[in-house]
Amino acid sequence: MSTAPESEPAALVKSLDLPAKVALLTGATAFTLAPRESVGLGEVRLSDGPTGVRGLKFSGGRVVALLPNATLLASSWSEESLAEVGRLLAEEALAQGIHVVLGPTVNLHRSPLGGRLFEAYSEDPLLTGRLAAAYVRGMQELGVGATLKHLVANESETDRNTVDCVLDEATLREVYLLPFEIAIDDADAWSVMAAYNSVNGVTATEHRHVNAGIVKGEWGYRGLIMSDWFATRTATAAANGGLDLVMPGPDGPWGDALVAAVRAGEVDESVIDDHVGRLLLLAERVGALGTPRDHPGDLPAPDSPVRREQLTRLAAQGMTVLRNEGGVLPLDPSLTVALAGRHAVETIGMGGGSAQVNPPYQVSVAEGLGAVLGDRLTVVDGVEVRTRPVPARGGFLTDPVTGEPGIRVVLRDATGTVLEQRHVAAATTMVGMDDDFEGTVATAVLSGIVTRSGAVELGVLGVGRWTVRTGGDERSFELRTSGKGFGEEVLTPPISTHVYEVSTGTLFEATVELPAGTEVFGGAGQFGLIGHEASRETVDVIDEAVRAAASADVAVVVVGLTEEQETEAVDKQTLHLPGAQNALVEAVAGAARHTVVVVNAATPVIMPWRERVDAVLWAGLPGQEAGHAVAAALLGTVEPAGRLVTTFPKDDGKSPAWSVTPVDGVLAYEEGPFLGYRGHFAGRAPEPAFWLGHGLGYGRWEYADARLISGDSLAVIVTVTNTGDRESREVVQVYLQPANLAEPVRLAGWAGVTVPAGESARVTVETDRRMWRKWDTEANAWGRVADGGELLVARGLGDIRAVLPIG
Ligand code: BGC
Repeated sequence: MSTAPESEPAALVKSLDLPAKVALLTGATAFTLAPRESVGLGEVRLSDGPTGVRGLKFSGGRVVALLPNATLLASSWSEESLAEVGRLLAEEALAQGIHVVLGPTVNLHRSPLGGRLFEAYSEDPLLTGRLAAAYVRGMQELGVGATLKHLVANESETDRNTVDCVLDEATLREVYLLPFEIAIDDADAWSVMAAYNSVNGVTATEHRHVNAGIVKGEWGYRGLIMSDWFATRTATAAANGGLDLVMPGPDGPWGDALVAAVRAGEVDESVIDDHVGRLLLLAERVGALGTPRDHPGDLPAPDSPVRREQLTRLAAQGMTVLRNEGGVLPLDPSLTVALAGRHAVETIGMGGGSAQVNPPYQVSVAEGLGAVLGDRLTVVDGVEVRTRPVPARGGFLTDPVTGEPGIRVVLRDATGTVLEQRHVAAATTMVGMDDDFEGTVATAVLSGIVTRSGAVELGVLGVGRWTVRTGGDERSFELRTSGKGFGEEVLTPPISTHVYEVSTGTLFEATVELPAGTEVFGGAGQFGLIGHEASRETVDVIDEAVRAAASADVAVVVVGLTEEQETEAVDKQTLHLPGAQNALVEAVAGAARHTVVVVNAATPVIMPWRERVDAVLWAGLPGQEAGHAVAAALLGTVEPAGRLVTTFPKDDGKSPAWSVTPVDGVLAYEEGPFLGYRGHFAGRAPEPAFWLGHGLGYGRWEYADARLISGDSLAVIVTVTNTGDRESREVVQVYLQPANLAEPVRLAGWAGVTVPAGESARVTVETDRRMWRKWDTEANAWGRVADGGELLVARGLGDIRAVLPIG
């Protein structure tokens, strides 16, 4: 293992004794590291995550900006935009004294079933690595540390704590480690997070070959490797394997056990010194070592005009026009529009799990389009999209004490003493993970006033023994986890609901006795109140949408996924839209003069109707400005210039890598490097519905005079002409197809260019030298792809504009 260089932090290490050093190597709390006055080390504060800086609380914390999700940001194919995102997140971190952000997520989209792909950029390692490097640069420029996660081969969630991902060394290095390597090489990310899963039989936190050998050894990485939360299992193997820091704390498998291992000679003290040296280097880089840094006092608030503009633009520019027949888009604002779909009224701005934040507001598509179209817009709700009801939102319940939208939570210890009372705007709260009080919660009382009358579905979520009262009705029952998923009580707690007839102002009150001595996830759990209008019959909902569509110039249907599909801890079972959303689209398309479908999902969905509608706009999970961004994209005030970052298959199972279910604990990456478009292009899966790199924008493009030029690495120069009638951004993509077809086609470079209507630009695309490498397993060293082959100039591999033979 390499050691941290002899810098000032390394010298400080020598002034600490062994227990003091080891004490620094486990977190002090859920999201902080222990300070140490004698060496001038202040408290280092960490926060999730990729699409907003949530702060030190897992849920219901500080109000912060909610950014568009990672795939939507990445669809810009713009390093400048990702650098802006990094700076924006750094400012959000500085505003709340956070030193290290737990992002970006640089795992790849292997199977489209992966539940957490919404947090990761793409199926392509170069695109992922270069965009992540830009984000890291933007963030670290302002003195906030970025964390590349999750090292490595963490592409799905099923059995995520125990799954052993098995892949060959060449695929590991050429594909799955490459984004980490690029973000370290090009941007020197200050920390990395080791994953939950195993790789080739060794759990990630103990992976000496990857952590100590490749990352710290071969790449010469000077930063810190922390564990994912509760992922570390051992002292000796993890510490010797290159893991520097166990998270969270204060408990964990290091502490006394690691001190004892050093004294027993199982771990060399120089290994501990290296870990501490890296931790102090990180602290120094983020301004938590020595004299505290002054934080700027005038940072934009999450709901400031600056943020509103940035978040609308960043979301809208990544939206991707997948189809646009007859130029129905951009919409003419003088037309009448019928807007339908549950996602139109409850637009999903973020995925589920640790990436969630508490935003100041979330604009729905109905609100966003309504603000522009006024009474030319008719809105109808859509069919059900969830199987699992969600915590009350939009003021459905109000706090009985303050009257604000949300609920009241009173936490008591076993003696009945009140430990804390909280107003919870999101109607769901974490208990036991990041509490600000002494003592253990034994019971919680959650209450809210129902602001609707008629048939409503009310219920609770969380593990424990519940008593629920509504009007004169009282029910008692126990909710337990299914025992399947680690952290289930935090991420997908069990629920129970019931339909009641209520009048406005009814008090809904639920008391839960928490299970005593829960060991899992540090004894923490998520608790909340569910409340929404009772479901209507699907046929009635569809009829209403059809009537509205038939009497408007254009129908816009918003469909999508929810946090039931796009979430941490759970994978998808299918890429088909949940509920009867396809039936809704087909019915509207049959009745409307023009139909535009907006897809509110971060990852591929199956669109059986795609050739029967006029236009499809993929909108990702657009963050707090969702509705304004969708309106801007539909009306063309911001060009939806996105290009897909992942390939959309035509149907379930029609991708080169599909299953995410381990067999006897093993998930074999059998497709090797042929994931996504690489496998489709090699004929290992059928032609997809839409290729990575596809996106029409609002321009039309002709390509001419493509030629190879040599530079640092081979480059392509090509003339692109915008033959459309408005300024547009083109993303010129260059793919390398090696002569040896056993080596996959791969994106080798790209360049974005904005060209006014009717004009041309000469564009140079450098290929990235790292895409010409081939791992030689026998020599255990990098070699080069086979001589010959071709460079393909393309707008996604379904639309190749030039083929340039090499050599
Ligand atoms: C996730 C990490 C996250 C951590 C802290 C884990 O469950 O896998 O990505 O940073 O929790 O919230």
